[in-house]
Amino acid sequence: MIFSGDALKQKHALITGASGGIGYATALLLIQMGADVTITGRNQAKLEELKREIISKKADANIHIHTANLTSDVERQKLVDTAEETFGTISLLINSAGILGNGKVEELSQTQIEQTMNLNYTVPILLSQQVFTKMKEKQEGAIINVASLSGLRGTFGGTAYCGSKFALIGFTQSFALEAIQHGIRVNAVCPGYVDTAMGRKSINDKADREGRTFEEQYQIASDGLPSGRITTPEEVANTIAFLLTDAAENIVGESVKISGGAVMR
Ligand SMILES: NC(=O)c1ccc[n+]([C@@H]2O[C@H](COP(=O)([O-])OP(=O)(O)OC[C@H]3O[C@@H](n4cnc5c(N)ncnc54)[C@H](OP(=O)(O)O)[C@@H]3O)[C@@H](O)[C@H]2O)c1
Repeated sequence: MIFSGDALKQKHALITGASGGIGYATALLLIQMGADVTITGRNQAKLEELKREIISKKADANIHIHTANLTSDVERQKLVDTAEETFGTISLLINSAGILGNGKVEELSQTQIEQTMNLNYTVPILLSQQVFTKMKEKQEGAIINVASLSGLRGTFGGTAYCGSKFALIGFTQSFALEAIQHGIRVNAVCPGYVDTAMGRKSINDKADREGRTFEEQYQIASDGLPSGRITTPEEVANTIAFLLTDAAENIVGESVKISGGAVMR
């Protein structure tokens, strides 16, 4: 059973971006599948809220909160150290933290480009390095990078964000080849619009550009999809959870789309 209460038993999952929509939904699901979970983000209040919700659903959940700015080497190292002190070796890493960094090329600042590349691309590599040595000792583990359809094709005003997600998929594919030699699987998920703060901001930016209201643009975004609706964070979490289980044992270096049919290839 893929989504049974013990599918991820005795696994320790580190989930970044857990104060945000996709990471939050992923934490809730992995806990219900039996994993011990370390959640991180910068927003302590949101992480506390997630912890309360988890405990209300599963009183004996093993959940550890650690706030960190992932762009800081010191804070990232502290995150990994305290997580491992709490629940032992991290066997599952979900790199979900990310920023949008949108803007037309002529408007982009160097800082904006570098910040977007840093969090969306460099940080997942550095965190993967930090957990890989111990995963290798155990010869087991799985890493999921939350990429995007924007890692598969360009979008208007999406230079910095698309560049970072294309790069993240390049990392996923290259590292997957190295990691699988040690029984560790690396994959990416590629959502289209997801109904989270980030997805809504992206729709809102487009609404502003095109002189529409948010509601009008949201409807257009939904109607434009073959499925007729944008993706929920829970649907992305389901895909991540599947890729983490033994049911996905021979899925390596993939970029799995969850987009209501927006892109097919
Ligand atoms: N929503 C979409 O439409 C969509 C589509 C495709 C792909 N994605 C990808 O999915 C992932 C999750 O997005 P989401 O929709 O869940 O977005 P979200 O709700 O905006 O969450 C973003 C998360 O990233 C964290 N974060 C941002 N900067 C950080 C930093 N410097 N250090 C540590 N954490 C940081 C935020 O934490 P704090 O708020 O606590 O700082 C938050 O938890 C992202 O990688 C995004 O690119 C989203």
